[in-house]
Amino acid sequence: MEQEILKVENLSFEYPDTPVLRDVNFTLYKGDFLGIIGENGAGKSTLIKIILKLLPFSKGRITLFGEDLAKFRDNYRIGYVSQKANSFNSRFPATVKEVVMANLYGRKGFLSRFTRADEDKMRAALAKVGMEGYENKLIGSLSGGQQQRIFIARALISEPELLLMDEPTVGVDARSVELITDIISKLNERGMTIIMTNHDTPSLVRAADKLLIFCEHGNGEFVRRRDLTMEQINDIFAGKRVHHHA
Ligand SMILES: Nc1ncnc2c1ncn2[C@@H]1O[C@H](COP(=O)(O)OP(=O)(O)OP(=O)(O)O)[C@@H](O)[C@H]1O
Ligand SMILES: [Mg+2]
Repeated sequence: MEQEILKVENLSFEYPDTPVLRDVNFTLYKGDFLGIIGENGAGKSTLIKIILKLLPFSKGRITLFGEDLAKFRDNYRIGYVSQKANSFNSRFPATVKEVVMANLYGRKGFLSRFTRADEDKMRAALAKVGMEGYENKLIGSLSGGQQQRIFIARALISEPELLLMDEPTVGVDARSVELITDIISKLNERGMTIIMTNHDTPSLVRAADKLLIFCEHGNGEFVRRRDLTMEQINDIFAGKRVHHHA
């Protein structure tokens, strides 16, 4: 049996005066890679924030690792890279090492001390995003793209089972985008479940094996990439609605 990771049923959501999601339904199993596609304002970030319990929802049901979202407490099983995480100014008094290692507290408990093995994990996470050697730099002294890579390392250090990434490579240079995309694909091949949005739709469609495509009505069409025809893929690349009959 495949392990169910996330189930979203009949989810609807609105901000005051702004309906966003309407009757969204999808299920992810261990090792799935979901790409969320839609125009600016379609509700991609909103959906991710709801899954992370950053926004309360009232209509529908979400199950994480088989547990009702409201009861779910094992936050360390989930990694998150937010849209435009790179917003530290140059005075923010934390080093790269502190920012990355802080994400081990969820597993270790706040009062526990970091071991040499933890430091090794930190260096390995930095190496994965091509930022080895930066551990003692102040986070605010790095460029936007470098900060974004540090936030990806921060999400990876706790070895989450489910990794949510909201446009993780915005502002990151082409070579690093390739590096990061490669890492994410490898983690996915080894069984990490991934949910990702990306302004670069073609590369997301290439990497993902399931897609949630938001069109005009906010309900999202959930499709397996392998069920899409070439014509439908071309429509996605052209920013058009996908007509799916399944
Ligand atoms: N805090 C908020 N209060 C009110 N409305 C909001 C809030 N956040 C987002 N919205 C609105 O909800 C809709 C969905 O926003 P969301 O950020 O989820 O879109 P998105 O698909 O992530 O867009 P983008 O591609 O620009 O990141 C938009 O119309 C937006 O204006
Ligand atoms: Mg967004």
